[in-house]
Amino acid sequence: MSGGLALKSTPAPIVACTIARDVQTFDLLIDDIEAELGEAWGDLNFLEAQAFLVQPEADDLEFVAIAVDDEDEPDVELLLRVIELAKARNVKVILIAEDVSPPTLHRLLNAGADDFVPYPLPERAFHQSLERIRAGHTLAAQRADAGPESPNQQDAPPQAPAPIRHATTNMGDRVTFAVQSMAGGTGATTLATNLAWELATIDKKDPPTVCLVDLDLQFGSVSTYLDLTRRDVVFEMLSEAQNMDVDAFKQALQSYDGKLSVFTAPSDILPLDLIGPVEVGALLDFAQSCFDIVVVDMPSAIVQWTETVLNRSDVYFATLELDMRSAQNTLRFIKALQAEDLPLDKVHYVLNRAPRGLDMNGKARVKRLAESLGITLNTQLPDGTKQVTQACDHGAPLAEMAKKNPLRKDIAKLAKTLHEAIKAEAAAS
Ligand SMILES: Nc1ncnc2c1ncn2[C@@H]1O[C@H](COP(=O)(O)OP(=O)(O)OP(=O)(O)O)[C@@H](O)[C@H]1O
Ligand SMILES: [Mg+2]
Repeated sequence: MSGGLALKSTPAPIVACTIARDVQTFDLLIDDIEAELGEAWGDLNFLEAQAFLVQPEADDLEFVAIAVDDEDEPDVELLLRVIELAKARNVKVILIAEDVSPPTLHRLLNAGADDFVPYPLPERAFHQSLERIRAGHTLAAQRADAGPESPNQQDAPPQAPAPIRHATTNMGDRVTFAVQSMAGGTGATTLATNLAWELATIDKKDPPTVCLVDLDLQFGSVSTYLDLTRRDVVFEMLSEAQNMDVDAFKQALQSYDGKLSVFTAPSDILPLDLIGPVEVGALLDFAQSCFDIVVVDMPSAIVQWTETVLNRSDVYFATLELDMRSAQNTLRFIKALQAEDLPLDKVHYVLNRAPRGLDMNGKARVKRLAESLGITLNTQLPDGTKQVTQACDHGAPLAEMAKKNPLRKDIAKLAKTLHEAIKAEAAAS
């Protein structure tokens, strides 16, 4: 516990992308491409694809999966242009179509699609299509009456998706994670709440016990995001923690759906220095003694007891966004920690609302931000659109309200990585 943890991951290079009016309408495709490539793919709409496929970065793609339905038929000229551009870059094209009329389908296939799969995707159909194009068994080859493959096809060896690695060290079987926002509203509470929920539900048979502690005493919103009431007993517990016992701590907890225990913020706005390192230490002792995993949501201000939580955490997540406000605050946060000689190696920076896979301009800005701060930004969470705020307002974790939301999926992956690290540490000790 609190031995420090280094989460390292290399964002996978993008080797494929889906092209669709709205890829969320083809959720089976998202599942299948994720199963094949993990993170190594992006998604574009038709206009974005047209712009991207003329850039040199497009040469890195192995294939594009173009998904169309009857609503796209009026835009067939644009679709044909996208296929042409992909072919000109020697990028393979898998056409996925639902309810498209035979004449349109005929035109799209003749424009050079390498393979065709109907939607909804039959079981393993996408996998088999990928095998066919990788083996060079393309429609174009068939059209050429099984003649020799074009030199271009021979030049494109199958690329295995780069694995995403997370390395962890020094985790016991009881762990504490904390989350602090580098600038208000960068998603700390959303991450803390959903990470706690994903961890609490990660294993149906043997889930870890998880306690989410809201220490944002003034504007803590965990109770809002999980639709729990704020209890007066919390105030007593906070101000007198060192004189309380574990039963009093348990009584101050509330349960979300019987699976996640929550220590909410108090009902009234309290000064952040109402509590000090002693009270916070005592509170964390109770939580750590009762639960396998403790997740602490911190205020965005640095307080006297930030050090207490940092020292007791295995990973201290710092959320930021791609803007000057986050950059400047993060720099000041780093300097403050350095000045006090605090364990900066426990801080794991999380870029929220990060640019998507093929947004090269955005990616360059991320690189510049990380370089200028001297940090790595290995965990990048996507914009989950209005669905995220709706789930927060509704008082439910994303997994309950919007299971397929991209932000939910990435937080679930982070939870899985952390859970595996905990199990591996436990097995090694
Ligand atoms: N990746 C995302 N995609 C879409 N909406 C998001 C995302 N992350 C956070 N939000 C929304 O942004 C708002 C602020 O998020 P949140 O409360 O988690 O931030 P915070 O850093 O804890 O803020 P505060 O500093 O007020 O504690 C919420 O409405 C939340 O639903
Ligand atoms: Mg918050």
